[in-house]
Amino acid sequence: MKAVINNISKSFENPDGTIFNALRSISLTISEGEFVAVVGRSGCGKSTLLNIVAGLLSATHGEVVFEDLASDDRPLTSVVFQDLALFPWRTVNKNITYGLEEQKVSSGKQDQRAEELIQLVGLEGFEAHYPHQLSGGMKQRAAIARALAVNPELLLMDEPFSALDAQIRMDMQIELSRIYETTGQSFLYITHYIPEAVFLADRVVVMGGRPGTIQSIVSIDLPRPREEKVKVSPEFVEYLDRIWSEVRGKSQEFGADP
Ligand SMILES: Nc1ncnc2c1ncn2[C@@H]1O[C@H](COP(=O)(O)OP(=O)(O)OP(=O)(O)O)[C@@H](O)[C@H]1O
Ligand SMILES: [Mg+2]
Repeated sequence: MKAVINNISKSFENPDGTIFNALRSISLTISEGEFVAVVGRSGCGKSTLLNIVAGLLSATHGEVVFEDLASDDRPLTSVVFQDLALFPWRTVNKNITYGLEEQKVSSGKQDQRAEELIQLVGLEGFEAHYPHQLSGGMKQRAAIARALAVNPELLLMDEPFSALDAQIRMDMQIELSRIYETTGQSFLYITHYIPEAVFLADRVVVMGGRPGTIQSIVSIDLPRPREEKVKVSPEFVEYLDRIWSEVRGKSQEFGADP
């Protein structure tokens, strides 16, 4: 699979009828098994881009093409959002199998897949719990398992950990990198938080400006499996520094651009 984002622009119509340009000329290819993170300041169009890739919003210009698909049965994408996470009336297990039910997968296969995923995300013993009986981190684990269950070509995540406290957030980053390294799943991952992007990604896309454009793309050449101690390495700090200065550079332009 290769997800080709080809020259996407997006305009919205404001309530007063004027046009707001949110994205301009975004081109990016996400390769099979690649983890691409997108950073950029609030309002630069990250979620708009993700929603276009998910097919939840249409682009004003350009297109997203999925090439070299392994099979026609796999859904192209599934999404994990920050808050719109789980069905409160379903147990963890039933949340995970939701997409499989929709696909009319046999109940034996559903159970098997749910069991694998429960193990993968570390929710053993919580299969029969309802979302309100889980901590924030556990809810996000369940949401990730639900998104993985349908085996999407590309998993989309929009700030999935931003509601979690700092310690849980770090634990979840480690979990997610392990999930990525185990599954070989392709990811497009949006975050405000630069250290998270560097820790998780193969490439970090820096967006900025108004309308939002891709300002630069930084390949993260850190060893895998990623371990927490990499965060104190000079290479890691250098990446942070470089990406920070890219984000800052564009935000100065923000002030100058009416
Ligand atoms: N439906 C809409 N109608 C009009 N404007 C919109 C709409 N959706 C988004 N926008 C505008 O497009 C711009 C980009 O929004 P978007 O939500 O993509 O930003 P973001 O980078 O995800 O921000 P954040 O980091 O705060 O989540 C914002 O200025 C926003 O006001
Ligand atoms: Mg957003």
